[in-house]
Order: sequence, then C-alpha cells, then structure tokens
Amino acid sequence: MTPRDASARGPETTTDEVLVGVDLSGCTAVVTGASSGIGAETARALASVGARVILAVRDVEAARSVVAGIEQRHQGVLTEVRTLDLTDLASVRGFAAGVLADTDRLGLLINNAGVMGTGFHRTTDGFEMQFGTNHLGHFLLTNLLRPSLAAADRARVVNLSSAGHMLSDIIWNDPNYLERPYDKWESYGQSKTANILFTLELDRRLAASGAHSYAVHPGMIGTNLARYLEPGDFKALMSRGSRRTGPGDTSANTSAPTTDQAESVEKPAAVVMKSIPAGAATTVWAATEPALIDHGGAYLEDCHLGVAAEHARDVEAARRLWAMSETMVGQSFP
Ligand SMILES: NC(=O)c1ccc[n+]([C@@H]2O[C@H](COP(=O)([O-])OP(=O)(O)OC[C@H]3O[C@@H](n4cnc5c(N)ncnc54)[C@H](OP(=O)(O)O)[C@@H]3O)[C@@H](O)[C@H]2O)c1
Repeated sequence: MTPRDASARGPETTTDEVLVGVDLSGCTAVVTGASSGIGAETARALASVGARVILAVRDVEAARSVVAGIEQRHQGVLTEVRTLDLTDLASVRGFAAGVLADTDRLGLLINNAGVMGTGFHRTTDGFEMQFGTNHLGHFLLTNLLRPSLAAADRARVVNLSSAGHMLSDIIWNDPNYLERPYDKWESYGQSKTANILFTLELDRRLAASGAHSYAVHPGMIGTNLARYLEPGDFKALMSRGSRRTGPGDTSANTSAPTTDQAESVEKPAAVVMKSIPAGAATTVWAATEPALIDHGGAYLEDCHLGVAAEHARDVEAARRLWAMSETMVGQSFP
C-alpha cells in the first residue's frame, strides 16, 4: 500500500500507514483528550515518528497509562502529560500559559477532546456542556497558543468534528439553552458544526503565518464517547439522522464529494465501524499530508477531502461564530 496514493487510502487506512516515511523529529504536538480513544492513538502515532507530544488531559492517571503503553511499543518517545479541563476557562488559560512558557514553536495542535450526548449541564463558566467543551474551550485554547503556532514552520491545527454536525446548525439566538428546552443531539450537532466553522475562520486568520487548520470526521469508532448514551439512544439517533442529511456519529457521512475535489472517492454506502487506528488516521493525515497545504480550512474524512453540510460551509456564519465566541470567553483575538 502506498499511503500517499489517493486511491489506496480509505476508511480502513490506519495511522501507521499514513505515517510511513514521515519524520516529526523537532515538532511539538499538543493532543487534547489523549487519555483515551482517538486522542490516545493520535498521541501514540505522532510520538512514534519523533514528535514531542503533550497529552492534554483531565484524567492524568489514565493518560499515564496511555504513555506507558506508548513506551512499551516505541523506544525513546518524547511524551508529557499535562492537565487541561476544557470545561473551565481558567484551566485552559493555565494550560496554555504552561505550553507557551516552554514551547517556542508549536507545530501541531490536535483539538480532539469531546463529549457527546450528555445530560443538561453547565461548565464552570456557565456554558452548555457540549458547546462549552467541544467548541469554546478549544476556541480559547487555540487562540492563546497562536503565538507559538505562528512561530512554527507551517503549523497545523486539527479540529475533531463529526458527521453529527448535520444534526444542527448553530442556534444563534440561544446557543447555551437559556430559554429553550435542552436537546442533547441538537446540542452535539451544534458543537460539531462550531468545530467546522471555527476551522474555516481560523484558517483564514492563520494564513499570514503560513499555518493551516482542518476539520476531521473520524468515522464511527467504538470508544468511551458513547458513555453518556442511554438505552434506545442509538436507534433514535439513527432515525433522526436519516431524516436529515446524515446520521451523525452512527453512520458514515452521506455527503457527496464535488467534482472539483480531485482527491475525493466514493463513500461507502453502508455504516463502516472503524478500528481506533483507522479512526485516528484522518487526524494524522490532516496533520502531516503535504498536499493539504492547498486545502486550508477543509473538512476531511477517510483520509480524503470531504464535504460538510451547507450550514457548516458558510463563511459569514464562521465570522459570526468567531465574534460570538470572543464575547463568550471574554477576550478578542486577531
Ligand atoms: N468515536 C466516534 O465514533 C466519533 C465520531 C465522530 C467524532 N468523534 C470525535 O472524536 C473525538 C474523540 O472522541 P473519542 O471517540 O476518542 O472519545 P473518547 O474516547 O471519549 O475520548 C474523548 C476524550 O476527550 C476528553 N475530554 C472530555 N471532556 C474533556 C474536558 N472537559 N477536558 C479535557 N478533556 C476532555 C476525554 O477525557 P475524560 O476521559 O477525562 O472524559 C477523552 O480523553 C471527539 O471530539 C468526538 O466528538 C468521535
């Protein structure tokens, strides 16, 4: 298999296959939510090809056992575990200050952490939990780390989104459910749409520094993400998804590639359950594929260019979300 060959890449491509021939020595990477699932595998894969990887986690013990597993498989890896709780903006600020203090050039920021389908809760700062964790925490983190990203040679920011973004646009008049009844799938969809719109606007703002950002739908992978699901949720989500343009995290994306996307491939019609190494492959592809330099801001899936729903491709909405997020976190960014 030649991982650089578009026709050879697909839903089953793994991290190690993507990284054949890649050397990340001298590159520092931050991976949020690296204590389990896709984030743990992303950290392992990047470290295995020489990156210094900072595992940004709230469960330090779990991350230490991830590191032990990485060290068992690979000699001489550079890994560090640091505390980050995206539900607390003070924690985000503290983590970012620590990275800026000892990392002049941050080559990769993988905004991977996420929650799905939680009950109605608020973050420390009063945001609805899924929007606050999946989008606002990463919005602040990324912007605080921008000086270090800008100083690196063609840094990349990878934002884990989901086909679940098709479940909802941004709820502009009430994103934090102050006035409307909470709907956990609408909320998850909103947060994953925010990940894509953030990617678009961030890429535009990073352009002068040579850095780029990408949004990723990893596929459907059995991980701890399902921990908040209740009996019947899966079925309800499938039916809800099929009434819209895609079934969220319970199915492969059904969106059709456009003809101007030379790299696109036919997407599988059936649900493909991926292994974790295959689930993390598009993340590491986004982080390392040289050809993606011409596709800043793109939405990726199955190690190819993908097509997000129309509401997540709206550049005006991306600007509006940036401004709204600045107001929410109480800080403006260029
Ligand atoms: N699995 C799928 O089928 C699928 C499909 C589409 C998109 N995704 C996306 O892929 C990403 C990774 O998910 P996964 O499947 O690997 O799930 P996972 O195993 O549950 O991993 C999520 C990670 O995020 C961390 N996290 C959650 N809240 C956090 C917070 N407040 N601060 C810091 N870290 C936090 C979790 O840490 P704790 O253990 O401490 O909570 C965990 O390490 C998510 O963004 C998800 O939306 C996954």
